[in-house]
Amino acid sequence: MAQYNTAGTVSAPLELARGEHEAVAINGNGARVAPPPKVTLTSLTPNNTGTLRKIYNVVLPVTYSERFYKSVLDPSLDDVNKLVYYADIPVGACCCSLENVAPKQGEPTLAILTLAVLAPYRSQGLGSALVRHALRAALHPTVPPPPTPPASGTATRGQLKQAPPRVVINRATVHVQVGNEDAKRFYERLGFKEDKVVDNYYKNFQRMEPKAAWLLVCDDIAGALGETGANGA
Ligand SMILES: CC(C)(COP(=O)(O)OP(=O)(O)OC[C@H]1O[C@@H](n2cnc3c(N)ncnc32)[C@H](O)[C@@H]1OP(=O)(O)O)[C@@H](O)C(=O)NCCC(=O)NCCS
Repeated sequence: MAQYNTAGTVSAPLELARGEHEAVAINGNGARVAPPPKVTLTSLTPNNTGTLRKIYNVVLPVTYSERFYKSVLDPSLDDVNKLVYYADIPVGACCCSLENVAPKQGEPTLAILTLAVLAPYRSQGLGSALVRHALRAALHPTVPPPPTPPASGTATRGQLKQAPPRVVINRATVHVQVGNEDAKRFYERLGFKEDKVVDNYYKNFQRMEPKAAWLLVCDDIAGALGETGANGA
């Protein structure tokens, strides 16, 4: 498989919608306020997969396979899948896959697979920031990073081929375990709507009960992000 340079691009500090920018008085006069902690998003790389695995193992009720952790490193997802750092501490992540992105397959779709934020860092907008970032990246694909030649120094033409630009994606889906009303409301606030119940969605995850999931769909990412058209027109 061709290798690409996904050397861990770090975003500029995020402006969160709420929470973390509230002024905090740190002396009796209320004269000084604590500076807001820096929040950044970082690409997934083989070097931070261990961090990603730790966060998911702590937060999520299922253990994901090595295959999963390899698949989320795919170069075509470099701008979508991110770890979030709070004051330089990795505290959460969102991983997605892309469906129907080849020609004539149906409507291109961003499928949110996993989203987790460590409990002490919740309710500050980090989860929403991860999802909104993935939605924005799907809607506004960037040029994939160039391939990195293999360490041996010799590469076939295929190994050096740059991944083609992605199509614009204006639809997103996520499955939420039936009964997890908080998570459902969380996604509804971000522009998703319940589409249907998928029975036995978690059949391969023994510890997950119930096995049914709500399929939530966002049919208009541009609208959900407050953009009027797919290209911001
Ligand atoms: C869902 C999750 C990523 C949200 O992260 P976050 O950083 O707190 O997200 P935000 O600050 O943007 O939004 C907070 C809202 O998320 C909602 N929420 C969704 N799922 C929640 C959960 N399991 N526990 C607590 N709150 C949850 C709450 O309504 C909360 O609203 P509040 O701040 O008014 O209490 C985080 O709660 C989490 O990791 N939960 C466990 C894993 C999970 O449920 N993943 C999603 C299932 S698909």
